[in-house]
Amino acid sequence: MTTEDRSQPIEGNVLIFDTTLRDGEQSPGVALNVEEKLEIARALERMRVDFIEAGFPASSPGDLESVTQIAKQVRGSAIAGLARAVQADVDACWEAVQHAEHPRIHVFLSSSDIHIMHQLERDKERVLEMARTMVARAKKYCDDVEFSPMDATRSELEYVYRMLTECIDAGATTVNIPDTVGYAIPEEFGDFIRKIQENVSNIHKASISVHCHNDLGLAVANSLTAVTAGARQIETCMNGIGERAGNASLEEVVMAIKTRPDYFHLSTSIDSTQIHRTSRLVSQLTGMSVQPNKAIVGVNAFRHQSGIHQHGITKMRQTYEIIDPAEIGLPHGTTLVLNKNSGRHGLKSRLDDLGYEITTAELDRVFVAFKELADKKGEIDDRDLDALVSGERRTVEEVYKLDLLQVSCGNQAIPTATVRIIGPDGRPSESTSTGTGPVDAAYRAINGLIGVPNQLLEYTVNSVTEGIDAQGEVTVRVEAHDRTFVGRSADTDIVVASAKALMNALNRAIAQAPREPQEAWSNP
Ligand code: KIV
Ligand code: ZN
Repeated sequence: MTTEDRSQPIEGNVLIFDTTLRDGEQSPGVALNVEEKLEIARALERMRVDFIEAGFPASSPGDLESVTQIAKQVRGSAIAGLARAVQADVDACWEAVQHAEHPRIHVFLSSSDIHIMHQLERDKERVLEMARTMVARAKKYCDDVEFSPMDATRSELEYVYRMLTECIDAGATTVNIPDTVGYAIPEEFGDFIRKIQENVSNIHKASISVHCHNDLGLAVANSLTAVTAGARQIETCMNGIGERAGNASLEEVVMAIKTRPDYFHLSTSIDSTQIHRTSRLVSQLTGMSVQPNKAIVGVNAFRHQSGIHQHGITKMRQTYEIIDPAEIGLPHGTTLVLNKNSGRHGLKSRLDDLGYEITTAELDRVFVAFKELADKKGEIDDRDLDALVSGERRTVEEVYKLDLLQVSCGNQAIPTATVRIIGPDGRPSESTSTGTGPVDAAYRAINGLIGVPNQLLEYTVNSVTEGIDAQGEVTVRVEAHDRTFVGRSADTDIVVASAKALMNALNRAIAQAPREPQEAWSNP
């Protein structure tokens, strides 16, 4: 086995079914609006994922709307929606995905005794009938139907075989095997996939997919073992986000298959050069930062600390790197291209290179913010541009705008903040507050003016680049109207970034209609 030997015969293709917008959005504290979901969907399309699971249309009017919009506007990937095995869900799913060039309805129903007895509280024969009839109903609408026996890895094998056989007979063209609670061990999971092929008599009429959760840190290992056993679709999330410990991470699964053709003899359709950018986008919009040592997309993934490693790398990259950073779209070193003398054209051309498709109005705002930042810190690199674009893109209406923030603080002073905000009527209002620190004082003043009752759940600040003049990127998570909202902003002054991040979250809370409650057993 040698690295960089990519001339291996490829014997098949593994489909990538990305569920960042459905299972990923179920990550605790994540709530994306329609525009943000569309932006992620376009990035996934650019990365050439085969399927985008765009949401769970019956779960809320917002999800129905975002799946509908994605189905209407995204053309390069097939669009799937999730549905419980009940009529209303299947109908809502079709209502949303029917607009896609290639729609898919994904029906799921639990197969494990523990779910059937304690959650569904139904007889096992009745559960089989629900699965069968709802797959048949989906099939009347749509040729492409996926069925998932939820909690398959903790289910009685014979029952899973029966459920799959009946659902394939009813029209399922893909059967997905979820390791819903991340309980499986790779060898065992591979055996399960083989046994399904041996015991489900009509399995040749469907393709096998896997959907692995990461509760034991084995989601990627289980997914890859499943493809060696015959699965031909993997369900993934960007950055490995998702319920609890998350799902199999797209970037890890894809780069493992790409880096080891000698082992897998398989390919995917993914344009891996889009990975870095899509990972940044998902992290920014969900407010879920990527751990520094995360495989493929962590900031340390291509950094070499030890002198011996650095020495090796300078002689030959492959001594300590199995992936060329360019393969995931990471520029070599820091691309330092823009400064305060750069014009609008130079900025636009760099944003084009980075793959941003922005409107003229957005470019106008980014250019103003770019000039202000360049005046403060001189040199602007791609990471600064990412932060600027994300701050100046309006994915939520700015009902309240920050007009002025002034703070005084210090070891002998009482932290005090004065805030002036322009309200929905266009009129300014001002308030001064004290607090335990400048951010607390500013937050008290903002809350006094905006009047949306909320609780700050999480506050993080990260440096966008190195150096004392770097922008600080602040992410906050607040709870308001029984929901969680993420707010984000970057500025060279972290108190300003903090104030704008809170206002961003509160503007989202104002914009978003409350979600309708789901039935208790509905949560996949
Ligand atoms: O984890 C799970 O079982 C799911 C199903 C809906 C596929 O997300
Ligand atoms: Zn799941």
